[in-house]
Amino acid sequence: MNMTNPDRPYVFCHILTSLAGRIEGTFMDTLQGIKAGEVFYDLAFGPDRFYTMQGWLSGRVTTDENFTFYARPGLNPDAAPVPAGDFITNTDFGMFYVSIDPKGVLGWKSNVLQYETTKAMVIEVLTSQASNSYKAYLRALDIPYIIAGDAQVDFATLLPKLKTLFHIDLLMLGGGGILNWTFMESGLCDELSLVMAAAADGSFTTPGLVTNRQYPQGNPLHFQLLEAKPMDDSSLWIRYKVLNPEKMW
Ligand SMILES: NC(=O)c1ccc[n+]([C@@H]2O[C@H](COP(=O)([O-])OP(=O)(O)OC[C@H]3O[C@@H](n4cnc5c(N)ncnc54)[C@H](OP(=O)(O)O)[C@@H]3O)[C@@H](O)[C@H]2O)c1
Repeated sequence: MNMTNPDRPYVFCHILTSLAGRIEGTFMDTLQGIKAGEVFYDLAFGPDRFYTMQGWLSGRVTTDENFTFYARPGLNPDAAPVPAGDFITNTDFGMFYVSIDPKGVLGWKSNVLQYETTKAMVIEVLTSQASNSYKAYLRALDIPYIIAGDAQVDFATLLPKLKTLFHIDLLMLGGGGILNWTFMESGLCDELSLVMAAAADGSFTTPGLVTNRQYPQGNPLHFQLLEAKPMDDSSLWIRYKVLNPEKMW
């Protein structure tokens, strides 16, 4: 891995897909889907992992589905005004879950989450749309937060803070499709690590590897193959370099 940019973490998008490029669905319940899921986990979270990252980052929908289960916090509308700016704490935890939550809606119960064998400190990434009472709630749970952007999350501002404040040199971009596309098209994703299960379910409603919310018809990005490796139960691990959008044509 060539850590090209000294100012921000090296970002690799690590995703489990079906043969049809879907990232959710019943293909995951097949034997091939389950085995590919184990390959996916081992590469980034297992004891002999290939990617020795210090954190992973996911969108609000992915967090709701996997960790907060659509719980919403009981907020105190009369909370005293919190100090302006970021709330930086627990910086030496070593492993972080970076939660993109622009409006501040996720109902965390604790500042630490457990993902199978991995324990991580939550970092909430908010925009200026998040309320004072939500920030007070995060402070009460001792959950660090970073405010990046107004209507949209400003990832170019966020990434250097993750590196300098939380010592994250290698960051996994962990979906979903909306977030993956945002990073790739803005040139902030260096590598795509695809674990493709030898299974498909035919769904056309489940999310795909990338989703361009702005242009439903899409616009293309290019990738360069780094490595392709057969893995357990006919799954494939494919690594691509994400080509800088400016250099595509
Ligand atoms: N197979 C895999 O490896 C894998 C990995 C991860 C996720 N998944 C699956 O993917 C699905 C979710 O994917 P998804 O694409 O629907 O959602 P997502 O990317 O998880 O989350 C999208 C949300 O994140 C926030 N967001 C993302 N980009 C933003 C930006 N540029 N600016 C501001 N906010 C931004 C928005 O939150 P608000 O709506 O609150 O504004 C947006 O609705 C789930 O089913 C999950 O289980 C699969």
